Amino acid sequence: MKIERAQSSKIHSIDFNNLSFGQTFTDHMFVCDYIDGEWVDPRIIPYQPIQMDPSASVLHYGQAVFEGMKAYKDDTDRVWLFRPEDNHARINKSAARLAMPEFPKDLFMNGMNELLSMDSDWIKPGIGNSLYVRPFVFANQAGVAASASNRYSFMIICAPVGAYYSGEINVLVSEKFSRAASGGVGYAKAAGNYAAAFYPTQLAQKEGYQQIIWTDANTHEYLEESGTMNVFFRIDDTLITAPTTDTILDGITRKSVIQIAKDMGISVEVRPVKVAEVIEAHKAGRLKEIFGAGTAVVISPIHGIGFQGTKHVLPTIENSYAAMLKEKVVHIQYNKSEDPYQWRKEVVAVNA
Ligand SMILES: Cc1ncc(COP(=O)(O)O)c(C=O)c1O
Repeated sequence: MKIERAQSSKIHSIDFNNLSFGQTFTDHMFVCDYIDGEWVDPRIIPYQPIQMDPSASVLHYGQAVFEGMKAYKDDTDRVWLFRPEDNHARINKSAARLAMPEFPKDLFMNGMNELLSMDSDWIKPGIGNSLYVRPFVFANQAGVAASASNRYSFMIICAPVGAYYSGEINVLVSEKFSRAASGGVGYAKAAGNYAAAFYPTQLAQKEGYQQIIWTDANTHEYLEESGTMNVFFRIDDTLITAPTTDTILDGITRKSVIQIAKDMGISVEVRPVKVAEVIEAHKAGRLKEIFGAGTAVVISPIHGIGFQGTKHVLPTIENSYAAMLKEKVVHIQYNKSEDPYQWRKEVVAVNA
């Protein structure tokens, strides 16, 4: 791997106490190109704008997929990733759905390890602080023929982030719009999935909700996911979450939460969840919690759920599953507890 270091670091100009999510990037980025059927020229270069032909296919047909993960620093300055092989597997699953080439695992891991080692000063210790890592692939063949590109770039960029507090989260059940349809690309982290969610989300925000909670495209009767989170419902003391079909992203936080909850002795049901079931449970005082799970927020309690013009506000409870599960996940991520699952992977420079 070729390495070109930045001549000077921007780090001293950054106010790490006032970071807006994903607005500040580190000194370097990883790049690799796909040309003539092969991934070539893996390199780390100073973070910089990229040049593209105006006819590049990603700009016209949206052939692009991405991942979102985080690197954490423990109290002895060791840097850790959480289940990175799963992100690698998922970017390839996403790529396959968009007729894009898979990216080799050793290049993914080595590129990331090297980049994170070079920019490790950007990762601040302390729970809540982390480096958001964004691997992505896009089609950059020039020409507006509507077919799969034969040239791609894979890149990794990194943004330091502080504790993510987005304020109270209220979600609005989508009765009209859909994020994903059966047979479509909902299970992929395809760029266009997010573009298509912006407009309905803006409408929900005008009504005082931060996010939409998507429902199935066929009937709008079943709850799916919300923003960049999978969603869990606690009815009485059972935790329920939708199965990851082809319309739902197979979240890494979600599957970690399911595993930890089961190991804590919590009853977990992975099954379709009807809007009506949740609203009825709320009316009967049995809906104790709703929370979202995803890399950005880890676990975020949901304050209220809007449906057919009514906002159903969740009770404040002690011994919340969300709080207990968040602590368990975060302690594994920051090397503050044992990791019986071997999810935590230390970042070690390849070229060191
Ligand atoms: C649509 C969607 N659902 C769920 C998630 C949560 O997935 P993960 O826990 O792997 O971050 C994300 C974020 O990646 C997402 O974009």
